[in-house]
Parts: sequence; C-alpha cells; structure tokens
Amino acid sequence: MKYSQRISTLGESLTIAISSLARDLKAQGKDILSFSAGEPDFDTPKIIKDEAIRAINSGFTKYTQVGGINELLVAISDKLKIQNNLNYEPNEIIVSNGAKHSLFNVFAALVDSGDEVIIPSPYWVTYPELVGYFGGKSVFIETDEDDDFKINPNQLKSAITSKTKILILTSPSNPTGMVYSKDELLALYDVIKDTDIIVISDEIYERLVYDNAGFTSIGSINDDMLNRTITINGLSKSVAMTGWRMGYAASKDKTLIKMLNNLQSQSTSNINSITQKASIFALNGDANMDIDNFVSAFSERRNLAHKLINNVKLLDVRLPQGAFYLFINIKKVNLDSMAFCKDLLEKEGVALVPGIAFGVDGYVRFSFACSEEQIKDGIKRIDRYIANL
Ligand SMILES: Cc1ncc(COP(=O)(O)O)c(C=O)c1O
Repeated sequence: MKYSQRISTLGESLTIAISSLARDLKAQGKDILSFSAGEPDFDTPKIIKDEAIRAINSGFTKYTQVGGINELLVAISDKLKIQNNLNYEPNEIIVSNGAKHSLFNVFAALVDSGDEVIIPSPYWVTYPELVGYFGGKSVFIETDEDDDFKINPNQLKSAITSKTKILILTSPSNPTGMVYSKDELLALYDVIKDTDIIVISDEIYERLVYDNAGFTSIGSINDDMLNRTITINGLSKSVAMTGWRMGYAASKDKTLIKMLNNLQSQSTSNINSITQKASIFALNGDANMDIDNFVSAFSERRNLAHKLINNVKLLDVRLPQGAFYLFINIKKVNLDSMAFCKDLLEKEGVALVPGIAFGVDGYVRFSFACSEEQIKDGIKRIDRYIANL
C-alpha cells in the first residue's frame, strides 16, 4: 500500500520501547514498578461520575453541537474568567476530545508548509510530531537546568525568524514541572509584542501547582497578549478524567473558533454527550474539594520523591512547582537516558521515561502519580541499581 507522505512523517513514540519491554517483563512474571504514567492514579470524583450516570439515565445520549453544548461552554468561560483571569466568551471556546485533540485541530488550522514553530526543550513529545505532520518546522530552544528549564527573552529573540508563526508554552511543564511566573511571562511578552507570533499556551496542568506557587495564564497579563494567545486546557490531569476525553481551545479570534468547528464537524463531531454533562460539574466548583485533596496528596508525594531521589548517589533533581513529574539529572551516571532506563528496568523492574523522548539526554522522567509506598519501594530499587553499577 502507498501511504500518504504526511502520515509517514509521524514517528513512533520513543517511550514505546520502554513500555513494551515493561509489558514483556511483566508477562514473564517480573515485579515491575512503573513511574511512567502520564495520568493521576486517583479515581474521577464521585460527584462527576454520578452526573454522568444521571445524563445516561435521562437520555442525554444524542449528537450535540459540534463544539460543545452551550451550558458547557458557559461553564468553561466562567472558569477561565474566575480562576485564570482570562476573558473568553462562550463563543470563543471549542471543546474537543482531550487537549491533545484541541492541539491537533489548532495546528491543522494554523500551520502551513514551512512555518516555524518555536518549542522550548525539553518538550512534550506530541508538539514536534504535530508540527511535522502539518508540514511545519520545529525550532527548539534548549533550556538550562540552572534556569529551571525555562526560556528567557534573549533566547526567544534569537529563535525568531521571518517564518516564525507560533510559540508553544507549557506551564506547568511536562516533563520538568516548572512554572513560569508572571514576571517571566511579562519579559517574554516584551519580545512577542513586536512580532506577529501566536502563542499556544498549554495549561493542562494548571490546577496542579504546589506551595502556593501561583499560576499565571500568559493570556491574562494584558489584552494584547490575550489577543495573541490560544489557551489550551482540559480536565484530564486536574480532575483525574483522562479517559473521559475533554479538552478545549479558547481564542479571541472567532474566525479561528469557527474554522476549528468546521474541521471538527468533518471529523469527530462533538465529544461524547455524557462527558459534556459531567464536565460541567467538574468545572463549576462541585469537585473543588476533591481537586484540593489531589493537589495536597501530589504535593506530599512530590516532597517525598524529591528528598529520596536527592539522597541517591549520582542523581540530582530540582523541586518541581507543578504537574506530577520529577525530571532527574542522571549525567553523573555514565549512561545515556535510554540505556539507563532499559538497564534499570531489566535489573530492578523500575520503569522511567528517558529524557531523550522529550528532546534532552542526561535526564529521566519520574511520575509521582502513584502511592507513597510505591515511591519508596521504587527509589530503594533505583538506589540499589546505582550502588551496583
Ligand atoms: C503537556 C500536555 N498537554 C496535553 C496533554 C493531553 O491531555 P489530554 O488527555 O487532555 O489529551 C498532555 C497529556 O499527557 C500533556 O502532558
């Protein structure tokens, strides 16, 4: 069969090698502890599940408006105004099948062949794949651990060319957990304001911020920045709803929202009707207590994992301010990140994600979205692995 050129550009995720090895070892009966999860281990709050059951029983099971029912768009608009100081009207929002689908549609609507998209590195694996899929060129800005893996205005300025169309910002970050402060965003705005660059702000981990670090949406810093920003968010990470598939994109450009609706109307149509009803509950504050409990549990696990990893010889890690990942520096171990992950998995049954999957070697990603017991057991094994090297 002759496949399209476009589909041939899509790469297999580098993490697959590790996850299939973990699966094989598990099938052989080996005791595997996985720290590779990109999702909370918590169950979806009961109040949200009950609302979904109510939606089914009341027959809310038919097609809906392509971009989401009005009640849901209003709930998102209210959430963005109240929690993020982002002034989007309901008709400036479209709901899709997870933030990943929102990003896919936004790239489809904006990226033409040859367009450059600036991606701070380390990055979430999907961005460059989508940019390439639509014929764009990813331009990476390498960040430094000493700068908390954040880009600064000078780096941004040097990456901009006449072909630059988009800058992607992810705060809190996957894989580093770092969060941009309002001052840092204002400094980036000083560069952006003299350009035509569109900022795609991926805020999927926005509720998961620790030590009252505070979170600022780049679109909230002023009206001009809001007009240049497409805000991406969803319920997967903050409300433990990864399987429900609810994400959204918001933009002051109503034509863009219309185009995204057109694209979605010709592909997936609306996200499932039951998720939409349940999502309203997740957004309007009814699940706030559950979310607070998630955040405080993540915060304790983060502190524990951070302390224990820094006690392991040859390993160093910064304290992340958000999300649920530690991005561990393994440079003192004489192995690249893929070799380290394979060897650790084979010898001690611990699965981590190699940094190279996020564009940088010398690091591994450890997800603390698991029990404290598993964290302690896993890090004990990592310690033994390093001691035996
Ligand atoms: C940075 C980032 N953006 C977006 C997503 C996608 O989330 P969703 O489950 O809403 O598609 C993820 C999931 O891993 C992520 O880490």
